[in-house]
Amino acid sequence: MQSNLHSKLHVGIIMDGNGRWATRRGLSRLRGHQAGVEAIRRVMEAAPEQGIGTLTLFAFSSDNWRRPRSEVSALMGLFRSYLVNEVKGLVDNGIRLTLIGRRDRLPDGLAETIERAEAATAAGDALALRIAVDYSARDTIVNAAVRAGGLQSCSRETFSDLITGSKLRDVDLIIRTSGERRLSDFLLWESAYAELYFTDRMWPDFDANDLADAMASFHGRERRFGGLPSMKPDVSISA
Ligand code: FPP
Repeated sequence: MQSNLHSKLHVGIIMDGNGRWATRRGLSRLRGHQAGVEAIRRVMEAAPEQGIGTLTLFAFSSDNWRRPRSEVSALMGLFRSYLVNEVKGLVDNGIRLTLIGRRDRLPDGLAETIERAEAATAAGDALALRIAVDYSARDTIVNAAVRAGGLQSCSRETFSDLITGSKLRDVDLIIRTSGERRLSDFLLWESAYAELYFTDRMWPDFDANDLADAMASFHGRERRFGGLPSMKPDVSISA
């Protein structure tokens, strides 16, 4: 990750409420997810001017495979068309796209489509956009523990690298839409000291003003990282 992005904020968003948004309008749930893609566009364009360098969006959890097959396949189709159709817009906006999560259970060809989109946007330096698909924070932590093998001890920093596969800034702020107040297995390790922001807004309605409200709330918080007021975090503490 480029250091200029690392020095900017990392925001994670649990994009919730697409289904309810659609149902209330007499639309199919797919229409709600499609409207959710519009919200992604708005937020991604507004993020850099809000001081955000990394934006991680929760699009599909490893537990979402339990949804009806028709909805899962509609979502997979949406991911595929997003990856194909949005690349130009991402490049034009200087956005570097990566997908986090498992790729081995995705429909045929989707992993290759992801790789192409990642390669095409790799030079972006205005925003690192990470989309979580078939993602489980707990599985990620378990896999990192397996990779650490028989180590007697491991620093937090080293273990973080095992979890994220790269130098990744801890999450500063988690936003969840639709009035739900849970983390739902999203970025559990990286959010150890994240501020939490919950809004009743449904994800398809979320816009740049909502993001600005969330950021204003974030900037009004006092972050102590377990210390006393005005202390900076000490990330060098070993386990
Ligand atoms: C949660 O709302 C949302 C999802 C499980 C899918 C998120 C997907 C998108 C925002 C659009 C597609 C994304 C990309 C990257 C192309 P829900 O369906 O659980 O809503 P509900 O709680 O109201 O039923």
